[in-house]
Amino acid sequence: MKNIFTKAEKFTEPQKFKKLGLYPYFVQFSATIGSRTSIQGKETIMLGSNNYMGLTSHPEMLKAAKNAIDQFGTGCTGSRLLNGTLDLHNEMEEKLSKFLEYDDTIAFSTGFQVNIGIIGALTTKKDYVISDEKNHASIIDGCRLSKAKTIVYKHNDPQDLEKKLRELPKEAGKLLITEGVFSIEGDLAPLKEITEIAHQYNAKVMIDDAHATGVLGEHGEGTPNHLGLKKDDVDILSGTFSKSFASIGGFASASEEVINYLKHTARSFLFSASMPPASCASVIKATELIKNGDDMRENLRNLLKRYRKGLVDAGFNTVYSESAIVPIIVGEQVKNFQLWRGLLDNGVYTNPYMIPAVPIGHELLRSSIIATHSKRDIDEALEIIENVGRSLKIIS
Ligand SMILES: Cc1ncc(COP(=O)(O)O)c(C=O)c1O
Repeated sequence: MKNIFTKAEKFTEPQKFKKLGLYPYFVQFSATIGSRTSIQGKETIMLGSNNYMGLTSHPEMLKAAKNAIDQFGTGCTGSRLLNGTLDLHNEMEEKLSKFLEYDDTIAFSTGFQVNIGIIGALTTKKDYVISDEKNHASIIDGCRLSKAKTIVYKHNDPQDLEKKLRELPKEAGKLLITEGVFSIEGDLAPLKEITEIAHQYNAKVMIDDAHATGVLGEHGEGTPNHLGLKKDDVDILSGTFSKSFASIGGFASASEEVINYLKHTARSFLFSASMPPASCASVIKATELIKNGDDMRENLRNLLKRYRKGLVDAGFNTVYSESAIVPIIVGEQVKNFQLWRGLLDNGVYTNPYMIPAVPIGHELLRSSIIATHSKRDIDEALEIIENVGRSLKIIS
């Protein structure tokens, strides 16, 4: 008889890398994860977080979160639909709608829940979801959970998108989903071309802008604003609070009708407890700080220029993007882990990516810059990366 635990008993890959001293996961941090942090008492430059605007330790964020706990307690113990809506949730959604210039907004308890909730709620088995091949796992799972047929187009390829759309029945309902900034390599979607083609074929457009809200756009509104799109070009703009907003939760902004529908039908919204008060208060404060954060964004852009130039001059293979994410392509799993380990031992934290997140032969370290890094942080990190990369013969 089949024992479903057999695969778990045979799963020894982590032990193999632990024995080699190269296991890179569940690293334990013992301080705020800011531009520098502490790992086992050792100060480490943080190049591996999504805290792009550096707000996790901003004094006004801490104050807002603490006040919310004093006023509302530690949790809501219920779904938004029933006993889990505080003044704070509504205020947060209103502030986001105003900031992103949409009629209305729905806030979920994580960004993952946004994607697994929305796609299935909006589509039926007669519809099609058209999805970029490099979309995030939460979008892929959202497609799997929906009854609609999923059509995958080549990464950032408007021509392939058009070809795929042309083959679909004209009268069928269609939802196109792409990330604004792709989460691993930080490259931007060509949104002007993509949205134009999508609307030509009557597809509604949803942009997951998890890695761009706060970072890109005139005042941090995200990729559509950064690329000069008009409000009507994007039907649903979604994102997460776990990155630039330095909190937890996720959102989608759209028309009043769509948000009203999602608030009564998205299962991951209806059947899950609402965001805790301190998280909502942090998001409200972060929205204000992001909106007024032009100086922080300017600093981030300058640091990124310095960091990318340093890597390229040293001979590393990186992918150019205007986002805060900078990949260092290594192309081999063990070497990738060795680079990660060498950097950590010398005081730099990054995140290694391997299959299934990236294809075999494209293993990379994902690094990212925070607006509160200093030039000294960047220069020190570059020196370490160059030295370790040279000793491992990743660069010559
Ligand atoms: C593009 C994208 N969408 C959604 C998510 C999920 O967000 P959360 O961490 O809030 O669940 C992530 C997280 O990494 C992401 O990169």
